[in-house]
Amino acid sequence: MTRSFETLLFDKVGGVAHVTLDRPHVLNAYNTQMRDNLWQALEAVRDDPEVGAAVLAGSGERAFCAGADLTEFGGAPSQAVARQVRFERDVWGLLLSLRVPVVAALHGYVLGAGLEMALLCDLRIASDDAELGLPEAALGMAPAAGGSQTLPRIAGLPAAMDLLLSGRRIDAAEALRLGLVHRVVPREQLRAEASALAQRLSDTPRHVMAALKEAVHRGADLPLDQALALEERQAHLTLAGVGI
Ligand code: COA
Repeated sequence: MTRSFETLLFDKVGGVAHVTLDRPHVLNAYNTQMRDNLWQALEAVRDDPEVGAAVLAGSGERAFCAGADLTEFGGAPSQAVARQVRFERDVWGLLLSLRVPVVAALHGYVLGAGLEMALLCDLRIASDDAELGLPEAALGMAPAAGGSQTLPRIAGLPAAMDLLLSGRRIDAAEALRLGLVHRVVPREQLRAEASALAQRLSDTPRHVMAALKEAVHRGADLPLDQALALEERQAHLTLAGVGI
């Protein structure tokens, strides 16, 4: 099944939803239209019982996503309006809250909001030509899609400080060393690897995937004794075949 949005491609193959950022002429820069389309696509992932996993990728040869659309800066609504929109459509909260696993397939430029949205996914596969970075600081901005919080949780404080403050771009090999991506593959294999991984995840019992995501995300913010109690509760529920 294929649905078309202005700025996204949405395909469902078996139990896997493929969401592809599709503004290749501007390196898939993330604009307000893409935010609204991504919200709709993620709602479709959340609400479709046939979907057991998703792949987030970028179209074109050059980029997964080169960050927020710089041409929209300055034309943005007031802080109050921006906050209200975020409250009504917290697209990053929706991505993070999905019960199904999401695999990011990263190629070319993975910058700013592009890297931040990848960090909200569960697994990240990069092609060997990927270049990752958070250039916001040099542009006089702070990351606004979770990067200052997700990066230290994923790569640790020293690496996060380095990348956030310096804004330097790293290659796929360094991203792998720092733990930003789980695997690096040749460019021509990227989509196939990501699809195969998502298919395997989709074929795993759904309630177990959901329970594991919940245990890792919620448990990471709990004291160890409470986190272990959460795991124990979930182990019982998943054994009983009950969703969390
Ligand atoms: N927002 C809007 N348009 C963007 C964009 C962005 N974040 N990133 C790239 N583009 C557009 C360019 O304006 C250009 O459009 P044009 O062909 O109409 O001129 C097109 O995408 C190709 O980019 P270009 O800059 O010509 O390619 P390059 O190979 O010379 O450089 C980058 C690639 C990624 C290094 C460069 O485009 C860049 O630095 N982009 C901004 C990245 C950024 O700061 N993102 C974070 C924003 S918070």
